[in-house]
Amino acid sequence: MKKRDLLSLQDLSRQEIRGILTLTRQLKQSQKLGATHRLLAGKTLAMVFEKPSLRTRVSFETGMIQLGGHAVFLGPAEIHLGVRESPADCARSLSRWVDIIVLRTFSQDILEEVARSATVPVINGLTDLFHPCQVLADCFTLLERKKTLDGLKVAFVGDGNNMAHSWMEAAEKLSFSFSLACPRGYEPSAEIARLAKERGARLLVTNDVAAAVQGADVIYTDVWTSMGQEEEAEARRNAFRGYQVHSGIVALAKPDVLVMHCLPAHRGEEITDEVLEGRHSIVFDQAENRLHLQKAIMVWALKEVKSKR
Ligand code: CP
Ligand code: NVA
Repeated sequence: MKKRDLLSLQDLSRQEIRGILTLTRQLKQSQKLGATHRLLAGKTLAMVFEKPSLRTRVSFETGMIQLGGHAVFLGPAEIHLGVRESPADCARSLSRWVDIIVLRTFSQDILEEVARSATVPVINGLTDLFHPCQVLADCFTLLERKKTLDGLKVAFVGDGNNMAHSWMEAAEKLSFSFSLACPRGYEPSAEIARLAKERGARLLVTNDVAAAVQGADVIYTDVWTSMGQEEEAEARRNAFRGYQVHSGIVALAKPDVLVMHCLPAHRGEEITDEVLEGRHSIVFDQAENRLHLQKAIMVWALKEVKSKR
């Protein structure tokens, strides 16, 4: 079997995504019933994190333990990729001990270098460019609520960042439309948008929040300042004024709109407290589903996943 990396959603076919979503549902059901599913007994996950994390760290580590394996966490102080040791040497050493690596880092290039050098699967736990595990978990969360993603309108209000890029790729792989409203100068990568469109994604990128959110089934938002951009925080707070998800924005969408946020949230900035705590919000379902989805990803990477046609 060819080594299976998940560096962006381009690494997954539509059929593989369907298989992963089906397995996620099965794993979630069996966990709720208290049934063990030690599909990865004896396997070891290395977790190399160069940025902070709550959800990704705890859900991967807990997930691997529930699958019968264990996890080793390596923060910036342990490895210091590219300073203490090159990404390639780190990947080659880790491959001699562990079965799978999850990496949270800055540039996609570092992730790709680790994946090229590792002989075990490498999973993207967030880079500056993509956050595929989050968006797959979000698609699963949407499926739980809406039964199908076909024809849904997902509206993203905020920065054209890593989350936005993975959503554009998801819109290409699954049949929903994706509209993004951001301030001028904070648009997503034109190249990622172009490729997704060429492959059939229905995308709208606009500076007009109302145009993006009108009639939406889902309103998604994320922080204005991502990890690594802390020095720009003040400029971004000014630029993104007018791009807050508040009750007036929610009222433009469908009456049963779902409000989503990958968390951590900055209440009072990209989203009001009222909306985050309101009846449309499903943000903690999203957080929970990281666990179930990433268990399915690890099983996909290390074993065959059967997919329903
Ligand atoms: N949503 C998400 O990835 O959260 P963490 O940064 O806490 O892992
Ligand atoms: N865009 C955010 C996502 C956090 C999960 C960041 O990169 O910090």
